[in-house]
Amino acid sequence: MPDMLVNLLKLPKEGALLDTLRTDGIEIRRAVSPDRHRILPRIAELMGPSAASECEACFARVPVSLFIATQGAQILGFAAYNATAPDFFGPTSVAQACRGKGIGKALLIRALRALREEGYVYAVIGGVGPAAFYAAAVGATLIADSDPGIYEDFLGRLESISPQT
Ligand SMILES: CC(C)(COP(=O)(O)OP(=O)(O)OC[C@H]1O[C@@H](n2cnc3c(N)ncnc32)[C@H](O)[C@@H]1OP(=O)(O)O)[C@@H](O)C(=O)NCCC(=O)NCCS
Repeated sequence: MPDMLVNLLKLPKEGALLDTLRTDGIEIRRAVSPDRHRILPRIAELMGPSAASECEACFARVPVSLFIATQGAQILGFAAYNATAPDFFGPTSVAQACRGKGIGKALLIRALRALREEGYVYAVIGGVGPAAFYAAAVGATLIADSDPGIYEDFLGRLESISPQT
C-alpha cells in the first residue's frame, strides 16, 4: 500500500461542509483525554485493533492528535495524525452506515489543517487505501516506490503475507 503526498497550502476550505454536517447534528471535534476509554474501543470496532493501537499514540500528545465525528455521544468516525510517524495522516474510518455524507472528507481536511497549524507544508497519507478519495478530496498524489514505507516493520502486515505456525 503506497503513501500519498498532500500540499497543505492548498487545502480546500471545510466551513460549508462542517455547516452541512451540523444540520444533521454531526460535529467534527478534537478528541480529549477523558474520552480515551470511549474512543479507542470504538476505533477497534470501526477499523480493528491495530488502528486502535495506532490511535493510542495520539493520546500521548497534547492536544490529542485525533479528530472524531460525533452525533450526540455516538462516534461515527475518526481521523488521526502524527500517530505512527510525524507528519503522517491516518488511520481513518467512518462507520459503514454513515459513509457518503462528507464525514470522511471533513475529518481528513480538519486533521490535515492541524498539521499545517503545527508548521508542516506537506503531509503524507500513510499506506492508502482509497487513493481516489484522497486525490479528489485534497489533491493528494501517489509517492513513487513508497510501499511498504513506515509499515515495513508492522507485524500485522507480515501476518497477512506469511502463514501462522
Ligand atoms: C475512506 C472513507 C474514510 C471515506 O469516508 P466517507 O465519509 O464515506 O467519505 P465522504 O462522504 O467524505 O466522501 C467524499 C468524497 O469522496 C468520495 N469517496 C468516498 N470514498 C471513496 C472511495 N473509497 N474511493 C473513491 N472515492 C471515494 C465520495 O464519493 C465523495 O465524493 P463527492 O465529494 O464527489 O461526493 C470511508 O469510505 C471508510 O471508512 N473506508 C474504510 C476505511 C478506509 O479505507 N480508510 C482509509 C485507509 S487509508
